[in-house]
Amino acid sequence: MSSVHPDVQEVLISEEELAATVRSLGEQISRDYAGKNLLLVGILKGSVLFMSDLMRNISLDCNIDFMRVSSYGAGTSSSGKINIELDLRRSVKGYDVLIIEDILDSGNTLSLLKELLIQRGPESVKICTLLDKPERHMTDIKPDYIGKVIPNYFVIGYGLDYDEKYRNLPYVGILRPEVYE
Ligand code: IMP
Ligand code: MG
Repeated sequence: MSSVHPDVQEVLISEEELAATVRSLGEQISRDYAGKNLLLVGILKGSVLFMSDLMRNISLDCNIDFMRVSSYGAGTSSSGKINIELDLRRSVKGYDVLIIEDILDSGNTLSLLKELLIQRGPESVKICTLLDKPERHMTDIKPDYIGKVIPNYFVIGYGLDYDEKYRNLPYVGILRPEVYE
């Protein structure tokens, strides 16, 4: 057994639990998208580990691509604005787009991204998030697939970072408050 990182207060979701969660999501997606033209769009960088495990659990032909976005949500500007740092290179026309995200917090980024992709005229746009913090939602966004609902902790690992660190941890852990306070 590997040891837990000293900056982790508690392991919230173990490697085994993550594997089971991702397997179950892959099975649901494989059922729901049978006969469709699935395009997985991973949101960099947080979704990379989730994306690579999820796609191995999808038994359909599918395409993958990545985007990198940031949002200026309420608080910093009057209306939420999305900044596309890395865009898709091809049209989404004819595809059933499934956005793959690490965590849904305020929901600002994803609600703006979903609108933007819908405007590009694909067959459909849905959202799959590994983690969801419903207490923090600021929009009425409803993800179509949720791995785990979690309380309002700041979590790291399995792609999730604090200040670009900890993405490589194989589990999801609660970051010790001393680290960011
Ligand atoms: P929001 O839903 O637009 O507020 O932003 C979601 C993004 O914030 C995620 O894609 C993460 O990059 C980041 N984020 C939110 N909560 C956490 C957390 O607990 N740990 C690490 N990153 C987080
Ligand atoms: Mg992040």
